[in-house]
Amino acid sequence: MDLSGPQIFALLFILIISVLLWLQSWKSKMEMRKIPGNLGWPLIGETISFVSEFSSPSGIYSFIRKRQHSYGRVFKTNILGRFTIFMTGREASRFLLSGKDGVVSLNLTYAGKQVLGPTSLLTTAGEEHKHLRRLIGEPLSIESLKKNFQFINNRAIHTLDGWIGRRVLVLEEASTFTLGVITNMIMSLEPTGEEQEKFRTNFKLISSTLASLPVNIPGTTFHRGIQARNRMYSMLDLMISRRRNEEDVHNDFLQSLVRKHSKHDADDDSEKLTDAQLKDNILTLLIAGHDTTTAALTWIIKFLGENPEVLQNIREEHMRIRNARESNSSHLTWSEVNNMPYTNKVLSETLRKATILPWFSRKAAQDFTIDGYAIKKDWGVNLDVVSMHHDPYVFPDPEKFDPSRFDVMLKPYSFLGFGYGPRMCPGMHLAKLEICIFIHHLICRYKWKSLDEDDALHPTVVRMPRNKYPITVEPL
Ligand code: HEM
Repeated sequence: MDLSGPQIFALLFILIISVLLWLQSWKSKMEMRKIPGNLGWPLIGETISFVSEFSSPSGIYSFIRKRQHSYGRVFKTNILGRFTIFMTGREASRFLLSGKDGVVSLNLTYAGKQVLGPTSLLTTAGEEHKHLRRLIGEPLSIESLKKNFQFINNRAIHTLDGWIGRRVLVLEEASTFTLGVITNMIMSLEPTGEEQEKFRTNFKLISSTLASLPVNIPGTTFHRGIQARNRMYSMLDLMISRRRNEEDVHNDFLQSLVRKHSKHDADDDSEKLTDAQLKDNILTLLIAGHDTTTAALTWIIKFLGENPEVLQNIREEHMRIRNARESNSSHLTWSEVNNMPYTNKVLSETLRKATILPWFSRKAAQDFTIDGYAIKKDWGVNLDVVSMHHDPYVFPDPEKFDPSRFDVMLKPYSFLGFGYGPRMCPGMHLAKLEICIFIHHLICRYKWKSLDEDDALHPTVVRMPRNKYPITVEPL
């Protein structure tokens, strides 16, 4: 067979790239040889067993546990095209999360970086990260939460009003509730109607892109996600321009961003964010806050359904609050929500047992040594949180759902429900508020029955029940 010039050139090109990739992988293998673990097959590594364990009832924990048995608390693997070190324990947690000396930075997937954009809080580090965090803090501040309290309360009541007499998929209802809340807080989007639907459809396509193969050709999940992101950014462009021209004025986060970050001649422009930065970070807030809060709300309802004693205790707390109100109305107040100690323990226990974010991904920003192992700059390092939350020395009988574990203060860096250090979750108070309000109305009005006992997990980065927790409800 005769090959044409371009064909020979293409073959040579592929050959050179393959040799370079092989050399690179061989170099990494040699550097990592002292770290215990198995890098699996060339290219695919251990990806197949990693992905297949993902949806088992213990999810990724079963992949990790097997390797910890063989290799110990620090092991290497090769998954999803990356050489990665998994490590666990309080010392590793303190080391990786305290942000000391810029030892590590966040390690998003390539798809994640493309979707969230180059100026997202999650793709930046150092001073830029601090600056963006201050900005993102505004809609999540206590003052802003107080302002939105009644809206969240009304949305919870409205959502629950529709639960009687039908099969309810808790995960879907929780998703609609949390997206309705955050889109209203950020940009005053009505929780129902055409705009919300358009926004939701685009948002779901974008979310599913985060764990996809980054191949941008028509028909792929990644391509659909990038298209949806472009549509969402066009919606945001239109909103920003209407706010600037004062055609549309609201008392929300977007309004305050537009006010602060529009350029005026007399101003110092160095502190101002561009529209691209505003959009990347609005999307970041939506992505980081939506699936996590949706999953937490679903898990707490599921765990309460499975643990009648805990349900009884939490119901007593909420009935006491309701009965202490002068009128028997549903007007839950801000101070009542901030005085639910048992509910907070139930939430912490939910975040421990479910471990919604099973590992935190970091990249070594410099060489360092941990547990006697030398880690080189640029290596991916995952803090395995699921093992920490199921360590029987810290949480005896870890499979038991027992909120009383949180009666005593735990040692720092052992419970990571909302993370720790400079990247600790800035949306923690909003998430707690949404969950406490929702649980209050659910528990004071309804009892419920699960329609499916399947414990498998959805194969996504955020751990959620695969069956979406189907239930039927009855008035108490
Ligand atoms: C129960 C619900 C939630 C859980 C369990 C949760 C958990 C976490 C955790 C564990 C981290 C740290 C991850 C790491 O260190 O790698 C984190 C970061 C973050 N969370 Fe949350 N989160 C929740 C809700 C929210 C909400 C409602 C928002 C905002 C609307 C939000 C926004 C963020 C952002 C922006 C970050 C990144 C912070 C940074 O890199 O500086 N989260 N979250």
